[in-house]
Amino acid sequence: MSIPRPANRVADSDHERPALEAPLWEQRAAMSAAMPQGERLQKVLAERGWGSRRVCEDLIASGRVTVNGETAVLGRRVDTSNDMVEVDGVPIGVRPGLVYSLLTTPDGVITTAHDPLGPPTVVELVPPEPRVYPVGRLDLDTSGLLLLTNDGDLANRLAHPSHGVEKEYLAEVRGRPSSGVVRRLREGVELDDGRTAPARVSQPDPGVLRITIHEGRNRQVRRMCEAVGYPVLRLVRVRIGPLRDASLAPGQWRELTTAEVRELVEAASGDKRPVR
Ligand code: URA
Repeated sequence: MSIPRPANRVADSDHERPALEAPLWEQRAAMSAAMPQGERLQKVLAERGWGSRRVCEDLIASGRVTVNGETAVLGRRVDTSNDMVEVDGVPIGVRPGLVYSLLTTPDGVITTAHDPLGPPTVVELVPPEPRVYPVGRLDLDTSGLLLLTNDGDLANRLAHPSHGVEKEYLAEVRGRPSSGVVRRLREGVELDDGRTAPARVSQPDPGVLRITIHEGRNRQVRRMCEAVGYPVLRLVRVRIGPLRDASLAPGQWRELTTAEVRELVEAASGDKRPVR
């Protein structure tokens, strides 16, 4: 018959001796380290639009995901309010569940969230989950940067003209505007829905205008150029507030970095500043 061993004793190979019990705080720390905490990393990644959970597991398994700078392993759990999660060195997001994607739209893609009968929509170019919505709109024949997010607060603030978030466009126009025409565009032109606010306008190449506006009126750049006699042949948005990315090819998207989201939030909370 074996003799039951006292709970605080461990067997030694040759004889038994009393084991030293770990201090309570160490026991607690060990218990909490062993307990599953936070959310599974693949779930967090999937929620932020990195693909299905299966795709996210592959991302983790291939060593592309780090948590607080260390390569993550499958099964890792994270606390999204404290842990810094990165994929290929890019932070995955700022607030839990919120995603911010920067897309370069190709021509011929419509900037609405859903249009089953119409041309392809921008949301078809990014992962379907979590569902994101375009901030503002681009014409069907305008290409360039577009922000998609499920952060409704930020989207509303960015879209509101009173916050004055700048949008910069390159417009190829028919003809070569004189410096007087460029000045008129800068000062504001009369449109059927009122005079446009002062804009920043330059002509980096003959027939190409760089126009920065902070209003979001329908077809504003095209109408401004038309109003001064230089219709737009091609229009590309190259900047939204602090966001630029010339390396994103048409149809490509990427997550914003944490720093970019912070800059965007700052830009969206600022008062309207006149541009010159
Ligand atoms: N101004 C325009 O005229 N079109 C756009 O798509 C965006 C700004």
